[in-house]
This record gives sequence, structure tokens and C-alpha cells, in this order.
Amino acid sequence: MQPRLLIPLFALISSVASSADFRKDVQPILKKHCYECHSEEADKRKAGYVFDDLLTLVLDIGPNGIVVPGNTGESHLIEVLTNDEGEKNHMPPKAQLSSSDIKKIESWIKDGAFLVNPTTVKVQGMGPAAEKWRNKEGKEIEASFIKIDGVNVHFKMPDGKILPYPLENLSADGQIKARKALLEVAGIKPVAGK
Ligand code: HEC
Repeated sequence: MQPRLLIPLFALISSVASSADFRKDVQPILKKHCYECHSEEADKRKAGYVFDDLLTLVLDIGPNGIVVPGNTGESHLIEVLTNDEGEKNHMPPKAQLSSSDIKKIESWIKDGAFLVNPTTVKVQGMGPAAEKWRNKEGKEIEASFIKIDGVNVHFKMPDGKILPYPLENLSADGQIKARKALLEVAGIKPVAGK
């Protein structure tokens, strides 16, 4: 099959460096206010959400997730943090995050909601095997994940050529898969539950 998915290319889109860092800016807030009820560490997965295991959390980051990258208004996570205390799904249930904590989470979402800084992650050796990737229109290619430059996923095609493709033009599942591949390449391991 021809890799028609890759036409048109948006190779001219410049890379953006993430300024809000998940592990430095966001994870400490979640650890302090949310892990008690949403972590493998505490063996609590209320409503199915855990925030310490990045390989699980990444499944909730995407166009249909509680975190919609680049879009705080669509992100249910921000809604539960900012709706009125006393509402059923206000989080954390009996407290209110400070507005500076909420701003940090918002700027992380605006910066693309990456769990590791994509610009520092590089494939070592062979890297991931080739697999099928689908875009929003349902077109499919077979390629291996190389990296995400902040905006584009870089794929290695069967002929060895590297092709950048806008992350947000992949299918919802493809976007999650690319974000998960990034974590795996970065060497992130699952947090074992108790
Ligand atoms: C004391 C326990 C507790 C803490 C602390 C807590 N949660 Fe929850 N969370 C729950 C429970 C219970 C539910 C499921 C019931 C509900 O929606 O109220 C839930 C549900 C959720 C949901 C799904 C809501 C929905 O609309 O379905 C999200 C998202 C969430 N929590 C995020 C967070 C975040 C982020 C924090 C930290 C800022 C946090 N929670 C802290 C207990 C907690």
C-alpha cells in the first residue's frame, strides 16, 4: 500500500520545546492531592483513574481523554478541578487546588500534555518494531516510531526514510499509541500495584 497518509506533509511546522514539565510541575501536585485515591502506590483507582503509573495515565490523554492536549476547555480534568466545591465530581472531593496549581496543569495541557519532554527522548539502537498507524481519515501506514518533536511524530518507513507527521492528524488511538511509544522509548516502566 502506498503511504498516502503522509500526503500532505507538514514538515515545515517548527518544533516547539515544552516549557511545562510534567514530572517537575504537575506530578508533585497530583501526588500531594490525588494519589491517595488515584494511584497504584496507594492501591486506589477511583473511577478507574491512576495518576502515578504513566503508562496507564497516557491512555487518558488524547482527543477523547480527560486531558485533551492543547485544549483546556475540552479537558475534563480541568473541569473537575474548577467546578464548584460540593458538586459531585469536584476534585479533590473535600478540598480545592490553588489557582497557581491549576494554572500549572493548564499550561502543561496547552504545551501538549506530554508526560516526558519529547524533545529529549531518542531511540537507542533498533527502536520499536514497525506497526500499523492510522490517521483521522482511516488511512493506514506501516512504520516504526522514532520520536515526537513536540508537534510531529517521526516515523521510519519501510524504505528507511524518516517522515514527520502531525501527531494530531493521527486517529485518537494512534495519538495514544504514539504517546505511549514515547514513554517506552524513554524507558518509563509501569508502577506495580500493591
Ligand atoms: C479522597 C479520595 C479522592 C481524592 C483525594 C481525589 N479523588 Fe478523584 N475521584 C474520587 C472518587 C470516589 C471518584 C468517583 C466518584 C466521583 O466522580 O465523584 C473520583 C473521580 C475522579 C474523576 C472522574 C470524574 C468524573 O466525572 O467521572 C477524575 C477525573 C478525578 N477523580 C480526578 C482527581 C484528581 C485530578 C484529583 C486530585 C486533584 C483527585 N481526583 C483526588 C476520589 C478522590
